[in-house]
Amino acid sequence: MKFSYKYAVVPALLVLAGCSSVQRDTPIQVWDDMKHQQKFKAQAPVVGIFADGRSNRLLPEDTVSRDGYRDDSPYNTGLENGMYVGKNPVPVTLELLEQGQAKFNIYCSPCHDQTGMGHGIVPSRVPTWQPSNLTEDRVVQFADGDIFNVITNGRRTMPSYQYQVVIADRWAINRALSASASAAAFLSWRASSLALAAAFRSSFFGLALAPSCGWFRPSTRSI
Ligand code: HEC
Repeated sequence: MKFSYKYAVVPALLVLAGCSSVQRDTPIQVWDDMKHQQKFKAQAPVVGIFADGRSNRLLPEDTVSRDGYRDDSPYNTGLENGMYVGKNPVPVTLELLEQGQAKFNIYCSPCHDQTGMGHGIVPSRVPTWQPSNLTEDRVVQFADGDIFNVITNGRRTMPSYQYQVVIADRWAINRALSASASAAAFLSWRASSLALAAAFRSSFFGLALAPSCGWFRPSTRSI
């Protein structure tokens, strides 16, 4: 008899039909390879072992995790004698500033934007939720521990970022913020001193004095 492919189609369809639906029952296992064995499941009650019906024992009262323990040092809390720490306890380095800038861009810029002005993507979608402008004088003058505290606990409508931003990163962000604030202050001071110098030189009095005032001439070097 000549073999016809027609006869192969029916068994093939029957076999494939087994794959068509989601299987909810445990498949038949010839060798179950320890995949199925008795165990305690986290939330399931256990009968007949412990009186409280739990499989896990509760921790003794007042147990503290060794890894999670932190003392009340200014580094960990941003506070000293109940007051915000005035100065960031971590010495400034280039790496720290870069770390702070990078973490700011990740965690803070969605709301505060990368310049800190508060025009991030979140307030552009939710106009009723406006972040503070971190470049305004009121915020620039915050104690370092105060900024640390805002990141740790949130403030008013700003949520806490203590779980996303670890302590080292909070101080790094703080350093990056104060560095950009002092850079901005320097630039505006410089802009005003240049303007003053220009006004001075263009005045008659200035014209007469300018040659003897070399220090007042604006430098052409870039900063
Ligand atoms: C989900 C949006 C959001 C993110 C992300 C966010 N903030 Fe804010 N932030 C706000 C809002 C909103 C306010 C204004 C709170 C208010 O006045 O109700 C604010 C206020 C602040 C203030 C000023 C508090 C004051 O008294 O005006 C500081 C400082 C600040 N944020 C720092 C940060 C830093 C640093 C980060 C990153 C770790 C960050 N924020 C991330 C929304 C955000």
